[in-house]
Amino acid sequence: MEEKPKILEEMEQIREQALAALDQVNDLESLQNWRREMLGRSSAVMTVFSNIGIHPKEIRPMVGQIANQVKQALETALNERSLLVKEAALAHKLTSERLDVTLPGRRPVEGGLHPQTKVLRRIYAIFAEMGFQVYRSRDVESDEYNFELLNIPAYHPARDMWDTFHVDAPGQVLRTHTSPGQIHVMRENAPNPVRAILPGMCYRYEQISARSEIQFNQVEVVAVGRNITFADMKGTLKGFVRRLFNADVRTRLRPSYFPFTEPSAEMDVECFVCGGKGCSVCKGSGWLEILGCGMVHPTVLINGGYDPEVFSGFAAGMGPERISMLLHRIEDIRYFWGNDVRFLEQF
Ligand code: DAH
Repeated sequence: MEEKPKILEEMEQIREQALAALDQVNDLESLQNWRREMLGRSSAVMTVFSNIGIHPKEIRPMVGQIANQVKQALETALNERSLLVKEAALAHKLTSERLDVTLPGRRPVEGGLHPQTKVLRRIYAIFAEMGFQVYRSRDVESDEYNFELLNIPAYHPARDMWDTFHVDAPGQVLRTHTSPGQIHVMRENAPNPVRAILPGMCYRYEQISARSEIQFNQVEVVAVGRNITFADMKGTLKGFVRRLFNADVRTRLRPSYFPFTEPSAEMDVECFVCGGKGCSVCKGSGWLEILGCGMVHPTVLINGGYDPEVFSGFAAGMGPERISMLLHRIEDIRYFWGNDVRFLEQF
């Protein structure tokens, strides 16, 4: 009976085959499969335990003991392999996800200032150099400030110049121009002299087209003091235009009409596209209109709190969108508030 029982040989085989199979395992998934197959409930080793009863009684303890040894050997091998596989997986991850810090970076997308903001800031800077301060006044304005106090009574035909948005409160409108700011500035400063510009959005109930929007910026200019003359106005505005466009651009004043100035004028600059010869931008005239202006009307001075016998002043109003359009040859005003990034990115 010294012959080795067959079951021991079988177990030796189970062990060798399992360990050989384990040598081929290189990833976590196969490792799980191996564990199920070699150590699971229906695996060969476990079957030895469950079938222990088929062996003669006297060898059962030995069979059990050897089966235990095989099981433990497989478990130990599994743990070792598991460590190796995990290490390899980590190493693989580290190499495959390695950062090449020498690669050039990607530039973050940078926002930019709106073209209107840029033009407005240029305008502020130029007037600041000439001693003008920047004022803001309300977008929702009273009929009184937007019209009456600017010498535009309700029956006045000049009201047709401004198609107005009325708001849901009696006597309140969206300002149709920045001129009501003149009254605010004067009332805040009278009887002291004052120089100010008033930038801001204006609103008009108009058909939107390439040339007109229902909302747009204006910059109002106002100067009140003793002995301010038409020549002061001309010199100031000319100085402004030369700084804005270029130092030797020619300008001219044309007589015009505004209810709140007397006399009134419009300032043209020589067309900088054709140099005054006449082209499509200046419509053949050689001149581009850029602002309205005039000497503050005595009635408006009174409404602002100044004595027109002692004080005089000039005022002007311009549309910075129009100025940008001329500076950058933009053909359609709707681009400004259309928020098309392709347009905005060009500035
Ligand atoms: N408020 C005028 C408009 O919207 C522009 C204007 C013209 C303003 C002459 C002025 C000025 O201050 O003197 O059309």
